[in-house]
Amino acid sequence: MAYSTAPMTPHADVFQDYRNQFIAALAAAADVPREDIAREVKTADPAHGDLQFPAFSLAKKLRKAPPAIAADLAAKVQVPGLDVIPAGPYVNARFAVMPFSARVVDAVRAAGTAWGHNAEGQGRTVVIDYSSPNIAKPIAFHHIRSTVIGHALANLYRAGGWRVEGINYLGDWGKQFGLVAVGYGDFGDPARRGEMAHLVEVYVKANKKAEADPAYDEKARAFFKRMEEGDGEALKLWREFRETSVEQFGKVYARLGIRFEHMEGESFYQDRMDAVIEEIRRTVGVRESDGALIVDMPYAENEPPVLLKKNDGSTLYATRDLAAAMDRHARFHFDRALYVVATDQALHFRQFFTVLKRMGKPFAENMVHVNFGRVHGMSTRAGQVVLLTDVLDEARARALEKVRENAKAGRIHTDNPEELAEQVGLGAVVFGDLKNKRTSDYEFDWEQVLSFEGHTGAYLQYTHARACSILRKGGGAPASADAALLVLPEEQAVLRALAALPGAVRQGIEDNEPSHVARVLLEVAAAFSRYFTAGNQDATKRVLLDGNDPLRHARLMLTDAVRLTLRSGLAVLGVPAPEYM
Ligand code: ARG
Repeated sequence: MAYSTAPMTPHADVFQDYRNQFIAALAAAADVPREDIAREVKTADPAHGDLQFPAFSLAKKLRKAPPAIAADLAAKVQVPGLDVIPAGPYVNARFAVMPFSARVVDAVRAAGTAWGHNAEGQGRTVVIDYSSPNIAKPIAFHHIRSTVIGHALANLYRAGGWRVEGINYLGDWGKQFGLVAVGYGDFGDPARRGEMAHLVEVYVKANKKAEADPAYDEKARAFFKRMEEGDGEALKLWREFRETSVEQFGKVYARLGIRFEHMEGESFYQDRMDAVIEEIRRTVGVRESDGALIVDMPYAENEPPVLLKKNDGSTLYATRDLAAAMDRHARFHFDRALYVVATDQALHFRQFFTVLKRMGKPFAENMVHVNFGRVHGMSTRAGQVVLLTDVLDEARARALEKVRENAKAGRIHTDNPEELAEQVGLGAVVFGDLKNKRTSDYEFDWEQVLSFEGHTGAYLQYTHARACSILRKGGGAPASADAALLVLPEEQAVLRALAALPGAVRQGIEDNEPSHVARVLLEVAAAFSRYFTAGNQDATKRVLLDGNDPLRHARLMLTDAVRLTLRSGLAVLGVPAPEYM
C-alpha cells in the first residue's frame, strides 16, 4: 500500500516544507508518531540526497533489521517532487529538479529583499540590551562585539516578525565621572573640551594616578557621591561629558546603520535605587557585609556576594541592572530580554537573574545573557584602540588601499573608491566578527578580514556586486522564466544554498546566533562562484547566452535570486551591499 500526503502547502521555507512532508510520510508508513521520525531526519550529505532518515531507531519497535525497514519504508513513502531511495539502513530523499527549482526561485523573488523573513514572532516582543559602552572610558573589544552582534540580533528578530526594543544601556553613571572631573584639573586641555578622545585621555591618566594615590581615588569617589546626592554643579559637568560622548557615539552608530529604540543608561535609574533595595529587603532580604549592603541569599563558596550599596552609600552596577530589568518588564511586557554582553560578565548575569527569581519575578525566566568571547589582536596602526571610530577609520583606510590595488589590477571597477572603501571597511569589521560563533574567541587580523577572497565581507559584497553586474549586462531580470531548465549540478547547488536562508534566520533567532546567517551567505557565494567559474570554462554553462535563449532567461532569474538572497542576508547582518564593485 502506498502512502501519499496532502499537496505541499505554499510556504516560503521550501526546505522545511519538504522536510515536513518527508517526516509525515515516513511516520504514516511506519505507523509511529511523527516526533519519533522528526528527531532522526537529517540533512543528507549532498552525495546521497537532501534528506536522510536512519532507520536504526525503529529496529526495536518494528522488530526488523534497519536495512529491511529502510527498504520497506522507501517503497511506501511517496511525496510528490521527492525521489526516495533506500541505501542500506537509510532512507534517502532527493528533491527532484521540479518543482524544487521553481519553488525556490519563485519564493525568493516573491519575498525580494525580505527573503528569509518569517512572521513567527508576530505579537511577541524582545528587548535587546546591546552596545552599552561606558562613557568617558576607553572602548573595549567587548563593546564592538556587543554593538555588532546586538545589531544583527535586532535585525534577525525583526526579520522574524518580532517587535524589537533595542536599548543602548550606556555606562553613564559611576566613579569614572569622578575620575574625569578630578582629572580635568590636572590633565585637561580647555581647547579640547568637546572631544571625546580627550575625555578618555583624561580618564586614563586620572585612573593611573588614582591607582597609585588613594587620596586621589578618594576625591574621585567623593565627586561621584556628590552626583548621587544630586549636587547641581557635579551634575552639570557630568551632563557635559555625557553629551560629548553621546554625540560621538551617534556618529559611529550612523556609520553602522544602527538606530536604537532607546538610549537609556545607568543614570536613568538613579532615583529608583531606594525603591529597588526596599523591595529586595522585603522579598529576599538584605544584610551588611564589611559595611556594604548585599543581597541576603545563599552563595557558593568563594562566590562574591551581590552588592547593592558600597560602604560609602553609593549604588552599584547590579542595583541598577535590577531596577532596569523591572522597569523594562513593566514598560514592554517582553517575551524575551537579551543582554548582549561579554562572557566575562557571566557571574553578574547569573546572580542578577537569580535575585529576580527569588524576588518572585517570573519574567526572569525569559532573560538571556547572550554572551560572547574575546577578540585578540584588535589594534590600529596608532596602537591601542581607544574609540570605535578609530577601528572604523582604520578599516576604511586599509580598505581604500585594497580597493585601489584591485581596481588597478582590473579585478574591480568603481567610480567612487572612497565610498566603496567605507562599505568594504565596515563589511570587514562586521562580517569578520559575525562569521564566528559568538561564544568563541577569535583572532582579529586586518589582512584576513579585508581579503577579497575567503570567508570575508568583501567576498560577499563582491559576489553581490557581480550578480548585479551580470543582471545589468543581461538587461535585468526577466519577469518570468522556466526554472525547469536549471538542471546543471552547479545550478542545483546554488538553489540549495538560497533555500537555506529562511532556516538560518529561524535558527539564528532560536540560538541568538547571527553566524548561522553568515554561514549560509558564504555557501551562497561559494556556490555562485563555482557556477560562474564553470561558465568561464565551458561556454554552454554561461549565464549570458546569446539572444532569446530560454536558458539565458532562467539563468538570469537564478542570478537575480542570488542577488536578493545576498542582499537580504547582508542587511540582516548589518553589512552594506554595494551594487558596483
Ligand atoms: N556598560 C557595561 C560594560 O561596559 C555593559 C552593560 C551591559 N548591560 C547591562 N544591562 N549590564 O561593561
